[in-house]
Order: sequence, then C-alpha cells, then structure tokens
Amino acid sequence: MSKKAPHTPIMVAEVLRCLDGAHLKVFFDGTLGAGGHARAILEAHPEIERYIGCDKDPEALAIAREILCPWAGKVEFVHGDFTHLDQILQERHIPLVEGFFLT
Ligand SMILES: C[S@@+](CC[C@H](N)C(=O)[O-])C[C@H]1O[C@@H](n2cnc3c(N)ncnc32)[C@H](O)[C@@H]1O
Repeated sequence: MSKKAPHTPIMVAEVLRCLDGAHLKVFFDGTLGAGGHARAILEAHPEIERYIGCDKDPEALAIAREILCPWAGKVEFVHGDFTHLDQILQERHIPLVEGFFLT
C-alpha cells in the first residue's frame, strides 16, 4: 500500500449500521489496512477496550499506526494473516470477541 495514496475505506456508514447498538469490548479487524474503518468504528464505539488490528501488509500497518494514534492504548497491531485468527487471539489470551470485521 502506498503512503502517498492510502486506501479509502468503502461503505463506512453501512459497516457502522451493522454494528449499531452492539456493546463491543473486544473487536477483531482482520484487514486493518490503512485503518479507515477502524477509526470510524473506534469513534462510534468508545466502549471498545481492545481493538486487534491485523494486516499482512507492513506498509498498511505503518499507515494505520499513524491514523489510529489517538487510540494507541486500545489498538494492538498484528502483522499477520487473519486466517490465523485462533492463534492470534490465543496468544493474547482472548477467549471471545464481540465483533469482527474483514474487508
Ligand atoms: C480493502 S483493504 C482494507 C481497508 C481497511 N479496512 C481500511 O479501512 O483501510 C484490504 C486489506 O486487507 C489486507 N489483507 C488481505 N488479505 C489478508 C489476509 N489474509 N490477512 C491479513 N490481511 C489481509 C490487505 O493487505 C489490505 O491492507
């Protein structure tokens, strides 16, 4: 992912509508990308305590780190493949997530 042209997240309003009313404590984002969806979700759900943001692209993760710095205490950046979801959560002693996102 190019730092000059970060990905513009699509269907943000629709994503937020799907999560509307949910009380989210732990959230898994398997395609964190540049963090645009993550920023919208974190803004809309201040109750989130842990936001696990995973991406296989280290450049995307670097952009997301900058964009999500206001939530630095909540977001855990994982360089990995979301198909290893079980392992990623087990390593962090997370038995349950209230929400997840892949897109
Ligand atoms: C459409 S972009 C994500 C946009 C992101 N949600 C945002 O708000 O910017 C897709 C991202 O998924 C990542 N990706 C694709 N397959 C993956 C996988 N199996 N595991 C982890 N990341 C993956 C890509 O590296 C890319 O950053």
